[in-house]
Amino acid sequence: MVDKILYATILFAILIAIIIIVFVVSILRYHRRYVRLQKERMFAEITMQENERRRITNDLHDSIGPMLSSVKLNINSIEVKDSLDEEIVQKAGRHLDDIIKNMRQISHNLLPNTLERKGLMEALKEFTDHINDSKHIKVHLQLVHDLTISKQKEIHLFRIIQEIVQNTLKHAKAKNLQIGIGQENNHVLILTMDDGVGFDTEKAKDKSMGLGMKSLETRTEILNGKLVLESKPGKGTNYFIKIPI
Ligand SMILES: Nc1ncnc2c1ncn2[C@@H]1O[C@H](COP(=O)(O)OP(=O)(O)OP(=O)(O)O)[C@@H](O)[C@H]1O
Ligand SMILES: [Mg+2]
Repeated sequence: MVDKILYATILFAILIAIIIIVFVVSILRYHRRYVRLQKERMFAEITMQENERRRITNDLHDSIGPMLSSVKLNINSIEVKDSLDEEIVQKAGRHLDDIIKNMRQISHNLLPNTLERKGLMEALKEFTDHINDSKHIKVHLQLVHDLTISKQKEIHLFRIIQEIVQNTLKHAKAKNLQIGIGQENNHVLILTMDDGVGFDTEKAKDKSMGLGMKSLETRTEILNGKLVLESKPGKGTNYFIKIPI
């Protein structure tokens, strides 16, 4: 009788253990699948966003740009006798110049044409020179080696560095931002350091509504790379990024 009770208890315990294991395994599997789907969604979103940006930039450049320029030519060729009319025509011309300039800026913000034409380093130089002109912060850009990477990867690297710079401007209250870029053993290495206020990285992950840091991680994953973020309140913020070529 005692044997039977012991036997039944052991059987029952084994059954419970099996149920718990199956339960835990299915939760883990579900969680892994959820994380994978989330990542795939972010990958797709970023790729779609880049394609859209390129399409809009091309449309602005190839279609609206020439149209505005030809309107400008037509306006310039109008001959008016009345001085008031002449002033109106000149004003319209100046407005058109502003529109063309703004359109170029919008197209440039969407996708710097220097990145397309001259590559990552020239685009970064242009971007950081523009920020240094504002005198709020000094961005020190150093290229240790020339890079031999594809255009597709260059866009992701540009966006990663752009977000790091923008976060430094927005949040760090830094005086200096160092950016070093090099190539070693078939890897691109990027090191950034700011002398700003720093932040609690765990708290920022939980509380932040921003998309910037998530997109840094996703783009690094798309590139099969590694990203290490180091920051503490009062100690500035450093990034170390390693991307296979
Ligand atoms: N260099 C930095 N110095 C200080 N704090 C930072 C720095 N970079 C990020 N943070 C902190 O981390 C948070 C998350 O950054 P994240 O880029 O994800 O969002 P965001 O910049 O607020 O918004 P978004 O990037 O979507 O415009 C920021 O709100 C800020 O508190
Ligand atoms: Mg940001």
